Amino acid sequence: SHDAFPFLPDTPEERSDLGALSRAAEGCRGCGLYENATQTVFGEGSPGGRVMFVGEQPGDQEDRQGRPFVGPAGRVLDRALAEAGIERGDVYVTNAVKHFKFRRREGGKRRIHEPPNAGELRACRPWLLAELRVLDPDVVVALGATAGKALLGSSFRVTKQRGRLLALPDLADIGTPAASGDSGEEGPGARLVATIHPSAVLRAEDRDAVYAGFLDDLKVVASALR
Ligand code: URA
Repeated sequence: SHDAFPFLPDTPEERSDLGALSRAAEGCRGCGLYENATQTVFGEGSPGGRVMFVGEQPGDQEDRQGRPFVGPAGRVLDRALAEAGIERGDVYVTNAVKHFKFRRREGGKRRIHEPPNAGELRACRPWLLAELRVLDPDVVVALGATAGKALLGSSFRVTKQRGRLLALPDLADIGTPAASGDSGEEGPGARLVATIHPSAVLRAEDRDAVYAGFLDDLKVVASALR
């Protein structure tokens, strides 16, 4: 199969261990992105964390350092976490895609981020589902449209669905049309909160307003943890 599945660890014990999953992901060749990236950037954070943040893919800094959200977008996220009162010990951060996808301008040196395509998202999903299964968070936060689509399917729209406590679809349904997230904001099971990607704050003309909206969404997350 053209996905990450064959690269997952063999034993159930290893598949339920975030460290073992992360080590196995180092050798993933489930799609072509490993060829140009420096390394796999797996999720990291508190194994007992109640909140799992899902970004799009590692950026330039993350690719170099091998850790998620350590660049400019990570600094926006860190600040908002602190201001929303979400404790680091409660947080695990990861990405929908675990390798950096980029292009270079003709003759240029800078690596310019390119969004992953549907095939790359699908190929990488076994890692995201494994992380979800092991962490079993109370709240999953989709940072931006790519993460939202990875978790709720292609009909997901940030502008319509952000800042609300949605139901996290069953793992088996994730990425299918059944998983719209609108099927009940009450009831048992994990929640999903969608928001913008923190890098959108950095790109915005009106940074302060866009940041304030991001912070409001994270306050919804914080309130769900109390
Ligand atoms: N943007 C993301 O989506 N993820 C990272 O890890 C860094 C930047």
